[in-house]
Amino acid sequence: MGGHMSGSETAGIVNLDDFEAKARERLDANAWAYLAGGAGDERTLRANRGAWAAPWLQPRVLRRLAQGHTRIELLGRTLAHPLLIAPVAYQRLAHDSGEVGTALAAAAQGAGMVLSAQASVPMEDVARAVLPEAQRGPLWFQLYLQGDRDFDLELVRRAEAAGFEALVLTVDAPVHGARDRERRAGFKLPAGIAAVNLAGAPRAALGGELCGGLLAAAPSWDDVAWLRANTRLPLLLKGVLHPEDARLARQQGADALIVSNHGGRTLDGALPTAWALPRIADAIEGALPLLVDGGIRRGTDVLKAIALGAHAVLIGRPVVHALAVAGAHGVALALRLLRDELEIAMALCGVDTLADVPRSLLIDASKSALGAPWERPR
Ligand code: GLV
Repeated sequence: MGGHMSGSETAGIVNLDDFEAKARERLDANAWAYLAGGAGDERTLRANRGAWAAPWLQPRVLRRLAQGHTRIELLGRTLAHPLLIAPVAYQRLAHDSGEVGTALAAAAQGAGMVLSAQASVPMEDVARAVLPEAQRGPLWFQLYLQGDRDFDLELVRRAEAAGFEALVLTVDAPVHGARDRERRAGFKLPAGIAAVNLAGAPRAALGGELCGGLLAAAPSWDDVAWLRANTRLPLLLKGVLHPEDARLARQQGADALIVSNHGGRTLDGALPTAWALPRIADAIEGALPLLVDGGIRRGTDVLKAIALGAHAVLIGRPVVHALAVAGAHGVALALRLLRDELEIAMALCGVDTLADVPRSLLIDASKSALGAPWERPR
């Protein structure tokens, strides 16, 4: 209590949900409505989690695990494990250190970091803090196309110059979702917290507006082709759920896809990512690396994602919870807990490496008498 070490804040925390409970106590109703809320009735938000719980693991026993490890290959790099931090806006809502704290924790744990275009700290500060870290994972920049190519290009050049190693174009949010929780709470960014990297952006970029020219600014495949032609960085598309869009993304030169429904924050009723993922994996046939996010909370969820065709996964809300509870220390602990769970899950499933996890590791409970677990209250 009152000491300078942050251990006390995380006392008793053993999993990601423990962080959520503590974060809820610490954050005010305004911040909580924004960070925790989803769109509409939050069916997709709930379904994401339930869909990872739905398949049962069918473990193998007595396999050789002595050479086992969690390393993966992704976009030309070897990563220590398949965990990345999803782009989440305005992380200073959770903790003063904001995205810098998150990025330092990610670097310490060898996790990838995707910085949101709506980050609440300058992108250069994040890059400067983590680029020298030897053990760090990849550092990527997320963006929207704002309907103003001069502005978009300026942002891309800034990210390139700062040292970001890939661009993540979010394609599932041409408008802000109908976020009932946010609206009910009358969510407002507190004074001093803003999308500082988007100063001077066209109005559409700042979000929170349902109408007023947003659709006129909505990007199309032509804009993806334009972006592809205007950067040397690897380009990931985030927010793909339809197998046909995965094929189009490949044709347009995307280097990887993130199967995502924006954490249930855009289209309520969009299918859970655990369902979309294997359908997209079948369509893409290994031609592009696939990443996935949405409701991943357990090492077993990570392993299931990999069995369903993902190369890596992204974690969003749990990171913000951990940041709220204990800053960078909290985020590092959250990542460590998830890594440990993944290693335990691999060992108990007889999986030595993540390169070739067969889909037969899973039994689809949605086709059994067990019903659909995501409809059950948790
Ligand atoms: C921003 O992308 C949000 O989901 O709030």
